[in-house]
Amino acid sequence: MAKLYSVPQRVRDGGQQPIRSMSDYTDVSNQWVEHPNDFWLAETKKSLSWEDEPSVGLEGDYHTVCHEPFSWFADGRLNVTESCLDRHVRSQPDKTAIIWEGDEPGDGRTLTYRELHAEVCRAAAALRRLGVCSGDRVIIYMGMVPEAAVAMLACARIGAVHSVVFGGFSSEALRDRIDDCGAKLVITQDQGLRGGRPIPLKATVDDALAKTDLVQSVLVYRRTGIEVGWVDNRDVWWHEAVVDGTDMVSGPEYVHSEHPLFILYTSGSTGRPKGLVHTCAGYLTYTAYTHRTVFDLRPDDVYACVADVGWITGHSYIVYGPLANGATSLMFESTPLYPDAGRYWDLVERHKVSIFYTAPTAIRALAAHGEEPVDKYDISSLRVLGTVGEPINPDAWEWYYSVVGKNRCNIVDTWWQTETGGICIAPVASATPTKAGSATLPLPGIRPVLIDPATQKTRAGPAQGHLCLEHSWPGQARTVWGDHARFVQTYFSTYPGLYFTGDGCRRDDDGYYWITGRIDDVLNVSGHRMGTAEFEAALVSNDAVAEAAVVGYPHAIKGQGVYAFVVLNSNNGNVPIDQLNQTVRTAIGAHARVDRFQSVPGLPKTRSGKVMRRILRKVAEGQTDALGDISTLADQSVVAAIIQGAATQR
Ligand code: WT7
Repeated sequence: MAKLYSVPQRVRDGGQQPIRSMSDYTDVSNQWVEHPNDFWLAETKKSLSWEDEPSVGLEGDYHTVCHEPFSWFADGRLNVTESCLDRHVRSQPDKTAIIWEGDEPGDGRTLTYRELHAEVCRAAAALRRLGVCSGDRVIIYMGMVPEAAVAMLACARIGAVHSVVFGGFSSEALRDRIDDCGAKLVITQDQGLRGGRPIPLKATVDDALAKTDLVQSVLVYRRTGIEVGWVDNRDVWWHEAVVDGTDMVSGPEYVHSEHPLFILYTSGSTGRPKGLVHTCAGYLTYTAYTHRTVFDLRPDDVYACVADVGWITGHSYIVYGPLANGATSLMFESTPLYPDAGRYWDLVERHKVSIFYTAPTAIRALAAHGEEPVDKYDISSLRVLGTVGEPINPDAWEWYYSVVGKNRCNIVDTWWQTETGGICIAPVASATPTKAGSATLPLPGIRPVLIDPATQKTRAGPAQGHLCLEHSWPGQARTVWGDHARFVQTYFSTYPGLYFTGDGCRRDDDGYYWITGRIDDVLNVSGHRMGTAEFEAALVSNDAVAEAAVVGYPHAIKGQGVYAFVVLNSNNGNVPIDQLNQTVRTAIGAHARVDRFQSVPGLPKTRSGKVMRRILRKVAEGQTDALGDISTLADQSVVAAIIQGAATQR
């Protein structure tokens, strides 16, 4: 039995959120069970600023979703930036909203709620002058600068729909997203900076736009001052456009609750990335609720989530959740290892961070450097430590708990997804006893169900199965942009009446949940979600490759590594590794790389031509003695050749 860690005294003391003990947790969960709609209606009215308050909660369900998206609070009207900015300007104008820490230690600045509000209004006015209207799509391709958050909020202010594309994506990947959502405007910067290295953001945008003519304007924030290519009548400097003007119309555009707030592209097991759509009211309600509940937010907290705004974590827990709660949120431009492995702890000491949220991959990378870089700094301000993005192994958890947390912080291992909008399974910092490696218990309003894939039946009690969620919550994505059928197919058709997460999961004797990882063909490399199908499409686009199958394998730091089995066109057996990785980089981005290549004479296929990936996964994991039944293969001899090839490669 895994050890149960009780909530440390100083985390239990002084909490001001409603859930402060396990009996509170049970009470609040039961309130939801008894009246789910009243629960969320009360929550949204309490935590958001409404122009017209809603009277309805959830409409629709996981059956009616086939015909139309379900909705939350549909008869309400609001603008999310009033909840994130205006009301805080009235009550706490001089509180720091954003602490920005630049790439070089100590380089940075802070914005108060008053300053952030003013900058968002200026940017909103600039977007309006550039012809952006409510409902128009805007791509944001930036690094971790405060202007990225300003850009997101400025879109929200005028009802425009933002789609942030992570700055590591290639020009091809960026162009696909621009085309898919039909963006009118792109916001970018001259260069990004990360770990002392420049990232050519504007040049990549120029490349992407060379083959598409949807985009009318490009707004460019100057970060490093390097000279960049310029297209007259299209490109506009941020510092020239985002200024006070006489025509400044910065008032909020009120929209209905279900107006799209943003589109975020994410990888699935098949085809191209899909643009998940999150809508205004439900998303903000849920991110605000989960942010203050899970982290036990207190008025004086300095909260630091070191994710990137290009992923859902940055949207929900750097920008929207914290700002809706009037918190101080830190944005970090650099990496955990720049200039050395003490960077996070230097950050914590200088800014007196009390809540720190990172990913298991960073914890593992830092643990490899030992305790000395941590012990150099005074990190006694820490109270709650969060992790997200992939399963955390108990060793990494215990290192985080004892070396960083000094046994006096609670660890919140938060399970959720781009699709869920916010945290679904996690400890409540002030209440839930933890176990190393478990995301613990569902938040109030979340109903996990474990399904036996063989029988399609629900498994009760301690069990293992496919993780599904039974009832909608306000933060759930509503559709896939432009393809509702794909949304239904991907999430609601495997187990009718349930939302299928794509994760495997175990529930122990105490009802605690242990996520075991994806059961589909989605890779999670250093917390970056990528589809095996995207790698395969890139590899076969290279003339050297006839066929390719890509699988994940366990990797000590990255969680998963990428293993590619390739059938080459020439039979000299030499894999042109650098050339193929360059092709992958061009198609996907700098964060995508194959770790291991194996040249094979053929792929193991069934008689109907389907690649049996199960076999390849076992080979990649080095478990060639446990291949299972291979009798349905068209040609069993390729398996022996693949096993032999893998053995000589090791
Ligand atoms: C997938 C979602 C959630 C924001 C960042 C990733 C995995 C996420 C955990 C966790 C085990 C986790 C799952 C999930 N995952 N958090 N605490 N424990 N696995 O969002 O890119 O949409 O990826 O990340 O496999 O399905 P994402």
